[in-house]
Amino acid sequence: MVSKTHFQLIVLLVFLLSSLNITSSSYAQSVANFDKWVSCNMKKYDERKNILKSKWKVADLKLRQAESNKVIITVSQDGSADFKTISEALNSIPPRNTMRVIVSISPGVYREKVMIPRTMPFITLSGEAGNPPTITGNDTASASKRNGTPLGTFHSATVAVDASYFVAINIKFENSAPHEIGRRGEQGVALRISGTKAAFYNCSFNGAQDTLYDHKGLHFFHNCSIQGSVDFIFGYARSLYQNCYLNSTTKKVASITAQKRTNSSLDSGFSFQNCTVTGSGKVYLGRAWGDYSRVVFSYTYMDNLVLPKGWSDWGDQKRDSRVYYGEYMCSGPGANMAGRVPWARVLTDEEAKPFIGTQFIEGDTWLISP
Ligand SMILES: *[C@@H]1O[C@H](CO)[C@@H](O)[C@H](O)[C@H]1NC(C)=O
Ligand SMILES: *[C@@H]1O[C@H](CO)[C@@H](O)[C@H](O)[C@H]1NC(C)=O
Ligand SMILES: *[C@@H]1O[C@H](CO)[C@@H](O)[C@H](O)[C@H]1NC(C)=O
Ligand SMILES: *[C@@H]1O[C@H](CO)[C@@H](O)[C@H](O)[C@H]1NC(C)=O
Ligand SMILES: *[C@@H]1O[C@H](CO)[C@@H](O)[C@H](O)[C@H]1NC(C)=O
Ligand SMILES: *[C@@H]1O[C@H](CO)[C@@H](O)[C@H](O)[C@H]1NC(C)=O
Repeated sequence: MVSKTHFQLIVLLVFLLSSLNITSSSYAQSVANFDKWVSCNMKKYDERKNILKSKWKVADLKLRQAESNKVIITVSQDGSADFKTISEALNSIPPRNTMRVIVSISPGVYREKVMIPRTMPFITLSGEAGNPPTITGNDTASASKRNGTPLGTFHSATVAVDASYFVAINIKFENSAPHEIGRRGEQGVALRISGTKAAFYNCSFNGAQDTLYDHKGLHFFHNCSIQGSVDFIFGYARSLYQNCYLNSTTKKVASITAQKRTNSSLDSGFSFQNCTVTGSGKVYLGRAWGDYSRVVFSYTYMDNLVLPKGWSDWGDQKRDSRVYYGEYMCSGPGANMAGRVPWARVLTDEEAKPFIGTQFIEGDTWLISP
């Protein structure tokens, strides 16, 4: 912090320097620069002060405490571990836990609907790298709830995470409901992530329509594989996908992403860095679910299934001037910008910077090494 005496000293110094100046214009300039310097620093300082006061700081203290108190519980279907199902393991965790709980899951196919409520932060689901467990289900949006009303996309998820600080390592998330072109209500989510500060390493997400509901919050996907036919990555989170594999299984035409940024002041968007886009059918990289939809692909290999147009406004032309669809240093036959819609952007180095690296998701305040 700049102390009062320091501040006075600087003012005095500037006054002395400026009194030595010969022309009044350079004096005016130095005053202007000084004002700029002060206001810039004040702004920075205010920002830092606000960060100190904000709930994030408190949350990160909690995170540090949680990481220094780890507990491991085990799950195996053969009865040789603490629990036979993932749900049983989660039910054993007291609400509002303050410790990192690592649920270590043996290989196998777990047919369970797994819910991690908001009151259960700091959960890690961990499998073996060589033989990851699969958590599977086949609920769809049109499937009936007990009372007969349709489940809806939101509740179709095989695994639903409402808690913050969730981590998954070496897990296969699956929704095996089939997709038939033209049928309605077939959205079948494999994973919905609605908690913030969540990280996924070596995971795969398999489904048909609406596989990965990247709902809201700050999320990190590293070395993951995501597969589906229609809008298979959708939601309004701010997420970084690094070294991921996007596999289209569509038979005709579909979109990989449906990013729902609905308002220009929302800091939401998907950034794909060093990914691979491949698979069947023809795909748009994204279609605008929200008016201000924001998606960036950088250093990504795109196979020839990517439509030359690249992006879709979902039939609403006012979105053409509002969406932020950027590409930077991509390669492969699908990355040719020649046929792109005119409102797609080739980003400059400066424009691409904010989207590349974990600072896009404020990673340095919450990402921990897996
Ligand atoms: C991901 O998988 C690779 C190879 O199977 C393994 O070496 C690596 O440790 C895994 N990553 C994590 C975070 O477990
Ligand atoms: C979902 O899975 C259950 C259990 O395996 C099965 O009985 C049912 O037919 C499946 N439904 C669909 C739509 O695939
Ligand atoms: C990424 O995951 C694949 C399998 O899903 C694994 O073979 C590979 O080693 C992993 N790479 C890293 C760097 O973890
Ligand atoms: C890019 O992704 C590939 C495949 O996942 C990986 O082998 C490579 O190391 C990554 N490159 C960088 C710079 O991270
Ligand atoms: C992509 O999806 C298709 C269809 O399910 C599958 O046959 C193929 O193995 C997948 N590719 C990878 C690399 O997972
Ligand atoms: C955008 O969202 C912010 C925050 O939710 C809200 O305050 C603002 O009124 C919204 N603006 C519009 C144009 O909807």
